[in-house]
Amino acid sequence: MSEKIEIFDISYDGAGVGKVGEKICFVPKTLPGEVVQAKIVSDGKTFCVGECDKILKASPARIEAKCPYFSICGGCDFQHCTYEQEQIYKKQILEKELKKVGFCGEIDFVAAEQRFFYRNKIKFEVEKGKLGYFKHKSHDFFEVKTCPICDEKLLSALPFVEEFLAENKFKSLINVYLRNVGGEIFVCFLFDKNTKIDMKKIKKTTIFERFLTFFAFGEILESDKTKVVTVSSHVAENDVTCPETPQSPEEIRQIDIRAFSQVNDEIAQKLYAEVLRNVAGKNVVNAYSGQGLLTRQIAERARFVFGIELQKSAHEKAEETCAKCLNVKNICGRVENELQKIAEKIDLIVLDPARAGCQKTVLKETIARKTPEIAYISCNFATLVRDLKVLSDFYEIEKVKIFDMFPCTANMETYVVLKRKI
Ligand SMILES: C[S@@+](CC[C@H](N)C(=O)[O-])C[C@H]1O[C@@H](n2cnc3c(N)ncnc32)[C@H](O)[C@@H]1O
Repeated sequence: MSEKIEIFDISYDGAGVGKVGEKICFVPKTLPGEVVQAKIVSDGKTFCVGECDKILKASPARIEAKCPYFSICGGCDFQHCTYEQEQIYKKQILEKELKKVGFCGEIDFVAAEQRFFYRNKIKFEVEKGKLGYFKHKSHDFFEVKTCPICDEKLLSALPFVEEFLAENKFKSLINVYLRNVGGEIFVCFLFDKNTKIDMKKIKKTTIFERFLTFFAFGEILESDKTKVVTVSSHVAENDVTCPETPQSPEEIRQIDIRAFSQVNDEIAQKLYAEVLRNVAGKNVVNAYSGQGLLTRQIAERARFVFGIELQKSAHEKAEETCAKCLNVKNICGRVENELQKIAEKIDLIVLDPARAGCQKTVLKETIARKTPEIAYISCNFATLVRDLKVLSDFYEIEKVKIFDMFPCTANMETYVVLKRKI
């Protein structure tokens, strides 16, 4: 069924919103002000979803997407409009969400200098030895040869990965990860956990000489249960340029590929700089602290910092990262268990949870110990709003800033400062 639809709004996940009769219709990759012809691909009780066939009237903000796969790919939502317009939509989306907790104040926006080629890591799906992504909101694979939101140095590694896969017909390969750490390229092949690989039978290609290459065995890469083997350890020392991340080639070699890292170096630094403006002389808890990069920087200004991180591999890296800081204690455990064990008075808690947000006990403990200030960093505004609701009787929102960590997508990193009311 094909419908003519007027798009009048934008949804929280970046789709255009129109109506078919009285029913709300979401049409991905369309813009408010547009009139489109769309095929209805899913029809529910309260809403339906359309697939845009034709733009009958285009928005003045519409531009041609840089990516050849934009119309089908599940990665990007906003390549079809100008960056100025994307920023306006993101602010509007967050404004709407924060109204649910009564916040109607100003939202600052930290735009990215690079709208494209910013991602320092890529995760590819693998099918029949080909690299690809999933189509929009599905697990349907399609092959990709490029991705304009990824770092160009990573993209230049693709032909070498493809050559390696063509030479070795792996059956249980799940994903291929590429990461750029301070100019050094890491390639990691994730195999099913029961895979046994005979290294003597591997057909070696130039990938081993060019990049730091790993084989991982597990269900997902980001798990302590996943076993990682370094299969080449070439580090081109002259190539390692890391002007902003103060990591030596030695440190880069020791990076744990399983641990979380921010995907956008430029915005991560701006975000960390914002947190650091508020820590001088304080006792700080850095909860969900990852590999300790922020903990180390907080330690340079704060009185004392506790870092709490669940993943053992990330915690161990954090111990190395903060080895020279005498005012840091890194704790390996769940924030919901460890926070209550900290006896010292805490002036500020930094919360930077994964997409699932904070556990209720973490919020309750923060409230119970009358922590004067909270800096909440969120990559998922749905769980952010849920958690702000819990905090709202005791805390007032003082500042909201969007850090555009993921340009071209509807995702955003939100930084919220809360001050104790009572
Ligand atoms: C969004 S990352 C933030 C990492 C760090 N703040 C950074 O900037 O690199 C979230 C981190 O929380 C950790 N994590 C997830 N659940 C946790 C929990 N219940 N307790 C402690 N850490 C947890 C993850 O392993 C991950 O390293």
